[in-house]
Amino acid sequence: MAEIGVGVIGLGRIGAFHAESLRNRVAGARLVAAAVAPPDRERLLAVGAAPCALVDDVDALLATPGVDAIVVASPSSLHHEHILRVAAAGKPLFSEKPIADSVAQARDAVAAVRRAGVPFQIGFQRRFDPAYIRAREYIAAGSIGTVEMFRGITCDRIPPVEFLRTSGGLFWDLAIHDFDAARFLTGDEIAEVHAVGSIEVEPRLAEFDDVDYGIVTLRFASGALGVCQASWRAPYGYDIRAEVHGSLGKVVAEVDEKIPTRLYRDGGMHVERHDQFTERFREAYTAELQAFVDALQTGRAPSPDAADALRSVEISDAATRSRREGRWVRVGE
Ligand SMILES: NC(=O)c1ccc[n+]([C@@H]2O[C@H](COP(=O)([O-])OP(=O)(O)OC[C@H]3O[C@@H](n4cnc5c(N)ncnc54)[C@H](O)[C@@H]3O)[C@@H](O)[C@H]2O)c1
Repeated sequence: MAEIGVGVIGLGRIGAFHAESLRNRVAGARLVAAAVAPPDRERLLAVGAAPCALVDDVDALLATPGVDAIVVASPSSLHHEHILRVAAAGKPLFSEKPIADSVAQARDAVAAVRRAGVPFQIGFQRRFDPAYIRAREYIAAGSIGTVEMFRGITCDRIPPVEFLRTSGGLFWDLAIHDFDAARFLTGDEIAEVHAVGSIEVEPRLAEFDDVDYGIVTLRFASGALGVCQASWRAPYGYDIRAEVHGSLGKVVAEVDEKIPTRLYRDGGMHVERHDQFTERFREAYTAELQAFVDALQTGRAPSPDAADALRSVEISDAATRSRREGRWVRVGE
C-alpha cells in the first residue's frame, strides 16, 4: 500500500513527539517536512535538532512535494486557521485538540473539513490507550450493568504561562481529555455541566480569567452523573485516571506505576511514576497516528472525528461559562 508522506505543523512538546513517532514507529508513514515559528526554526537548525526538512510556513509545507497529509500541532489559537488552510488544500489532517479556541471557530473548522471532504482525526489519544480501551470494552459488554456515574481526574505540571495564555484555559486544554474520555467510555452524551475553579498555583492566570484547579459536574443525556477534576499541580508526576460506576459494579482505568516494581523500605514503599504525558501515553500517541495512516491507506473514515472534536469544544466552552457565570450550562446552549 502506498506510503503516506506527512507534514507536521509545529514541533513543540507534542509536535516533536509526533514527528519522532512518524519517523520511527508508524508503519506506512514517511515524515517529509515541518513548519514551525521562525525563532524555533533558527533554534532547531542551529542545534541540529530538526527531525526533517523545515520549510518557511504552512503554505510552503502544503506545497512541498510528497506531503500527502498534515499533522496540526501548532498552538491551540492557530488551529482554526491551520485547519482551514489544510482543508482548502484538500489534504487529510490529524489535528491536536482543541480544534479552535471558540465554539464559533470550531464549527467553522468542522464545516470547512466537511465541505472539503478531507479525512479528519482529532488527537484524543486516550481512546488508543489499552487501559481505556479495555474499560470501554467492559462497559459496552454490560459488565458493570447500567452506567450510573463517571469520574475523571487529570493533574499535570503547569506549562509556561505564555502557553496557557493562548490555550483557551484549563477546561479547553486539560479537562477536554476527560470530557472526551467520559463520552468514549460511557457511550453517552454530556448534556449539561456545572463548574467551579480556583487559582492555587499561578496567580497570573487571573490576568486572563483562567484557573489552575477545576471541578466540573456532569449530567449525561441518560441522567447519569459525572465529575471531572483537573489541576495544574502534580509534583509526583503525570496523574490521570477514570472510573465508571454501574448497577453491577465499576471499572477503573488507572496506571500509576511506570515500572511494576515496588521498593519497600523504612519510610514506606517507593514506586516510579510516569513523569510526562509523553511517557504515560507513548504507545497511545503512536497508535492514534497509526490508526490515522491506516485509515488513509484503506479509505476508512478516521476516528475520533470532527463531530467528536466539536463536541469536546462545546463541553469545554460550557464548563468555562458555567464557572464564570455560576450556573448549570447546557452543552451547545
Ligand atoms: N494530546 C495531548 O495530549 C497534547 C499534549 C500536549 C499538547 N497538545 C496540544 O498540541 C498543541 C501544541 O502544544 P505544545 O505543547 O506542543 O506547544 P508548544 O508551544 O510546545 O509548540 C508549538 C509549536 O508550534 C509552532 N508554531 C507556532 N506558530 C506557528 C506557525 N504560525 N506556523 C507553524 N508552526 C508554528 C512553534 O514553533 C512550536 O514548534 C496545543 O494545541 C496543545 O493543546 C496536546
